[in-house]
Amino acid sequence: MKISFASTGLPDDGALAVFAAQNSRLLGAAAELDKTTKGALTRAMEASRFEGKAKQVLEVLAPPGLKNSRVILLGLGDLKNLKAMDSEAIGGGLVTTLNASGETKAAVLCDALGSAEDGAAHAAALAAGAWLRSYRFDRYRTKENPDKNPSLAKLDVLVEDVIAARKHYGVAAKVAGGVFVTRDLVSAPATIIYPTTLAAEAKKLEKLGVEVQVLGVKEMTKLGMGALLGVGQGSDRESQLVTMHWKGAASGKNRQPFAVVGKGVTFDTGGISIKPAGGMEDMKWDMGGAGVVIGLMHALAARKAKANVIGVCGLVENMPSGTAQRPGDIVTSMSGQTIEVIKTDAEGRLVLADALWYVQENFKPRGIVDLATLTGAIIIALGHEHAGLFSNDDALSEQLSAAGQAVGEQVWRLPLGKGYDKQIDSDAADMKNVGNRSAGSITAAQFLQRFIKEGTPWAHLDIAGVTWSSKDKATVPKGGTGFGVRLLDRLVADNLES
Ligand code: BES
Ligand code: MN
Ligand code: ZN
Repeated sequence: MKISFASTGLPDDGALAVFAAQNSRLLGAAAELDKTTKGALTRAMEASRFEGKAKQVLEVLAPPGLKNSRVILLGLGDLKNLKAMDSEAIGGGLVTTLNASGETKAAVLCDALGSAEDGAAHAAALAAGAWLRSYRFDRYRTKENPDKNPSLAKLDVLVEDVIAARKHYGVAAKVAGGVFVTRDLVSAPATIIYPTTLAAEAKKLEKLGVEVQVLGVKEMTKLGMGALLGVGQGSDRESQLVTMHWKGAASGKNRQPFAVVGKGVTFDTGGISIKPAGGMEDMKWDMGGAGVVIGLMHALAARKAKANVIGVCGLVENMPSGTAQRPGDIVTSMSGQTIEVIKTDAEGRLVLADALWYVQENFKPRGIVDLATLTGAIIIALGHEHAGLFSNDDALSEQLSAAGQAVGEQVWRLPLGKGYDKQIDSDAADMKNVGNRSAGSITAAQFLQRFIKEGTPWAHLDIAGVTWSSKDKATVPKGGTGFGVRLLDRLVADNLES
């Protein structure tokens, strides 16, 4: 699908999309089209439940007096409350409607979307929503019925201030590019994406000006990364540690980098503490955290963010084999702390322990956010609506919550505390990698916190419930969501660039 912007020229073919506010009030071009069609839009509203409420859609086919195939009325509801996210959702919904109708070409007349001041931003948001919703992972479909292919090839966005709209959309499309990178990585099977191939995907960011460094087992052994290496030791695929550095800050100001760290378990069988067979295919996306870090670095570099950001990904495959780690093994992490591995399926925290320590030792970041599909328990607690947020810093937590609200990738903060931390004390080592059955997501976060140095603002996002969606959403088709890319891009834009 191709999206373009123009200020004039009502096309006389394809679909036309226009707007109505609540109480069936036809806005701008919609009112004019109603006249051209001798009241066809008003009659269609009267004959249906459409009243211009938010999210309502009405299709008027073969409108009299027009050559266009259809007019689509989009409800805006109460105009005063229109947010950028609403316009995104409208764009996403429009693409869905058009593809369901088999339409190939459409123009959306944005004269009534938003106010004079923010009309261009709303038109761009609509376009961005359309673009995000148009994503498809169809690389492995060879025999699909052509009727099911998305039909829409061209979407024209007609808006008064084309220059401003194009400018807004240019940035949004670059961030969406990062979201698509993540969705592609998360959706790919573990035959294609394993530690060395995922590292190679990160290397591709060099084209955008990101510095990328990849460490293998030899280098990590030298650094003493026994926690990460233990997880990968049962796999035939070599473990990797990837560091990506985007240096976008204007010199002098804001030089100290911010760090983003991702869990990249390219397949999680559970290891010797093997998982049940049912649903194990989901564990191909246990590299979701790393996928977000790579997609985020893509977005930041593509839009030339004025900030210094380090991305680190610990990449391993968790397999059972004759060389695999056993329950009861004790590993020494890069921090020097020892860990008794009670369950080899609690592997993400082992990978992150060394990745977190590594980034602090090497870059002294001003703050760290880690992302991980870390616990099934977070799905029990929060379902698929919020990512779990754990943090030692109220300001960072609030920045993350605000960014999440703004882009529709919501986070919900859960507590940390000494009482929970006790659960992971071990009789044999400095700590063990699982607590008891209670508060599983919190004890996992407590484990990570043991690898955060005093005074470093840190937040952990447990994204196990939001990395994959089993149903279509307004701007997110089902499958890999890319959740986290827009959230952290916004965090950077609002707090680290100036
Ligand atoms: N990758 C899983 C967590 C997960 C579960 C992600 C479902 C996405 C969907 C993680 O490595 C894991 O196995 N966690 C265990 C921890 C337990 C052994 C303490 C879990 O959640 O059961
Ligand atoms: Mn696991
Ligand atoms: Zn895992």
